[in-house]
Amino acid sequence: MKKISIIGAGMTGSTAAHWLAERELADLVLVDVVEGMPQGKGLDLLEAMPIIRKDVKIVGTNSYEATQGSDIIVITAGLPRKPGMSRDDLLTANADIVRKAATETLKYSPNAIYIVLTNPLDTMAYLAMKVTGLPANRVIGQAGVLDAARMSAFVALETGVSVENINCYVLGGHGDEMVPLTRHSNIAGIPLREYLPAERLEAIVNRTRKGGGEIVNLLKTGSAYYAPSMAVVQMADAILKDKHLIVPCAALMQGEYGLNDMYFGVPVMLGANGVEKIIEYSLDADEKAAFEKSAVSVKDTHDALRKLVTF
Ligand code: NAI
Ligand code: 2OP
Repeated sequence: MKKISIIGAGMTGSTAAHWLAERELADLVLVDVVEGMPQGKGLDLLEAMPIIRKDVKIVGTNSYEATQGSDIIVITAGLPRKPGMSRDDLLTANADIVRKAATETLKYSPNAIYIVLTNPLDTMAYLAMKVTGLPANRVIGQAGVLDAARMSAFVALETGVSVENINCYVLGGHGDEMVPLTRHSNIAGIPLREYLPAERLEAIVNRTRKGGGEIVNLLKTGSAYYAPSMAVVQMADAILKDKHLIVPCAALMQGEYGLNDMYFGVPVMLGANGVEKIIEYSLDADEKAAFEKSAVSVKDTHDALRKLVTF
């Protein structure tokens, strides 16, 4: 059995464990700083397994030893935002948490692939890559799967078409400047721009960009966790099964799309080695302008991190 350790057993971490256990994809370890909480959630989830006839070992703990030999480390430890906050407001609080989670887990799982969720996402994925010293293909940020799923959900609500027919693509940073690609997105091969009137499409693009904030404003005490944790499942499944699945993720830019030394949301091929390839879409002038605007904002957060932390 493969093994996944999830650092941060809060809403997103524990819901990821729930979805993963249901799929019998891997044995699971939940790590959190709150005493008793990961142990309690882990045990509760373990006790659900006989009902669904799944042989998954699940352990909750406050220390890192039990993460030994993990194939995948998911980092979802840290503060979520509250109404009125941007993801970037979390930088100072979460940088120390991600640094610790990344360096501690590496001691026990030197061969693991990392999936980072903690916000501000692109910058925290960069931090995890820098502090572990791992090759960039083994540190991946989760954002694009979620953002594209949100766009697909809104298209399904608008059109009444099955989500199985809807293929949406979102590039850029995990912030309100993200770039929903209406030219590449389609319903059963029909470009969204042909299927929907321009003003409806624009409303969907705007709702997608602000999708995280919409949930924060509704929940008031935290941020989304069902869709983000299901995104983790899709990424872990692609890695553990070496699927060569192309999905949008945050990856280290090394010249792709004209960007360097920052994590950014682009289509990647996911397989046993993590990011196997970065796919470069051809972008028209409007898409390029939106992409660059998002890149400036993500670069600023990377610059703020570099002032805060020495690697
Ligand atoms: P949450 O507050 O429910 O859970 C966070 C957990 O991290 C808490 O249980 C807390 O005790 C734990 N924690 C704090 N410091 C820790 C440490 N040093 N080691 C281990 N655990 C520690 O928050 P939620 O909703 O699970 O979100 C967690 C983070 O993930 C936030 O930064 C949030 O913004 C981000 N997030 C990002 C998403 C994405 O799409 N990239 C989606 C969902 C959440
Ligand atoms: C979201 O977009 C929390 O960043 C996360 O919901």
